[in-house]
Amino acid sequence: MQESVIRDPALAEAGEKRIEWARRHMPVLEKIKEEFEREKPLRGARIVACLHVTVETANLITTLVAGGAEVAVTGSNPLSTQDDVAAALAARGLFVYAFRGENEKEYYECIKRALELEPNVSLDDGADTIAIIHKEYPELAARMFGGCEETTTGVVRLRAMAEDGALLYPVIAVNDAETKMMFDNRYGTGQSTLHGIMQATNFLFAGKTVVVAGYGWCGRGFAMRAQGLGANVIVIEIEPRKALEAAMDGYRVMPLSQAAPLGDLFVTLTGNINVIREEHFALMKDQAIVANSGHFNVEIDIPALERMAKEKSEVQDNVTEYKLDDGRRLYLLAEGRLINLAAAYGHPPEVMDMSFANQALSVRYIVEHGRSLARSVYPVPAEIDRRVAELKLASMGLETERLTAEQEKYLRSWQMGT
Ligand code: NAI
Repeated sequence: MQESVIRDPALAEAGEKRIEWARRHMPVLEKIKEEFEREKPLRGARIVACLHVTVETANLITTLVAGGAEVAVTGSNPLSTQDDVAAALAARGLFVYAFRGENEKEYYECIKRALELEPNVSLDDGADTIAIIHKEYPELAARMFGGCEETTTGVVRLRAMAEDGALLYPVIAVNDAETKMMFDNRYGTGQSTLHGIMQATNFLFAGKTVVVAGYGWCGRGFAMRAQGLGANVIVIEIEPRKALEAAMDGYRVMPLSQAAPLGDLFVTLTGNINVIREEHFALMKDQAIVANSGHFNVEIDIPALERMAKEKSEVQDNVTEYKLDDGRRLYLLAEGRLINLAAAYGHPPEVMDMSFANQALSVRYIVEHGRSLARSVYPVPAEIDRRVAELKLASMGLETERLTAEQEKYLRSWQMGT
């Protein structure tokens, strides 16, 4: 392996302090780490972790190393790496290839460097490592035990590969665990997307019209939190059931062409491409703000904005002004990259605790069972999902109600009625 590629090794101490703060808020992962330290279930595993390089990810990496794995770390987005965290991990002797502000070429080079570990397990947030392995390193694919995928967009890509018969090794859709998406996607993205927007612009939500495209887990979380701060929320959906849910949750629902002239702020959380396009920019108010919190920077048609603008300037960190011919100014945040990670810390450790507990236990499952699995996308085993919920509840000092014997029997019987 070649030396780590990071921004500044001198940031390591600051990174360690922040990693420690997050660790104290990730009790479930901590329990799993202790178990891994005792049992070393990951001995022999060589893991490429292509994840947002944040304090929470650092704690996942620590857990995997405690389990006996060798790990190479690379970022899953050019703007989401926290350079102090990358420095801290490199100072511990890990192979780290990630720095904030990579260009596209550097981004893929970093992933390829990490692949020099010759991994047998891949961890992805967006399926980029898996895509590269499949396209450029098929010999590596043949030796993989399996992989884990962290986000909705990655799972969508992998299901498409599996359907085409193109997937060469089994992958666990960590994103789809209930203890992941119900909390990370909803409360994590909801809160941290607000944080990213406020950090970049100091935007006041109260009294503003906020247009949310996508009412999935992430969109629901963001709409709920924006409304909580006093915004007037409009939801854009393509799926009738979700649109209905949004309407009954109390939001206005309409096509984007109708919402475009109304919004002060537009946020995409769809996992889809070109959701906000030229025809929408053409209708927006002067000084409207546009941001994305979906995985890839394709949800806003940035090339269209570039074509329409007669002037473009950076007005402050993470805020680009596009001046249009008619004098209107539109503001794009963080180059359309996921705003919560590009302009803020990303999800709080309390939710990543559950996401990464699912990751750690799913990696263990892949190491123990991967070779007997088909080349397909698997759900997180239900016992893992349930265990994560039980551990989280216990860490919060909460207990569930227990069924009585009579209730158990009642729930299993069909003869008992009134
Ligand atoms: P989801 O599948 O639950 O929701 C996406 C919603 O967008 C669906 O309801 C879909 O019908 C809707 N949609 C699709 N195309 C649309 C269009 N053109 N206009 C309006 N609505 C449209 O997915 P989830 O979990 O909410 O994830 C959304 C995106 O956010 C994905 O790219 C995911 O990878 C990403 N994500 C980002 C995180 C972050 O830290 N910023 C964290 C977790 C997920």
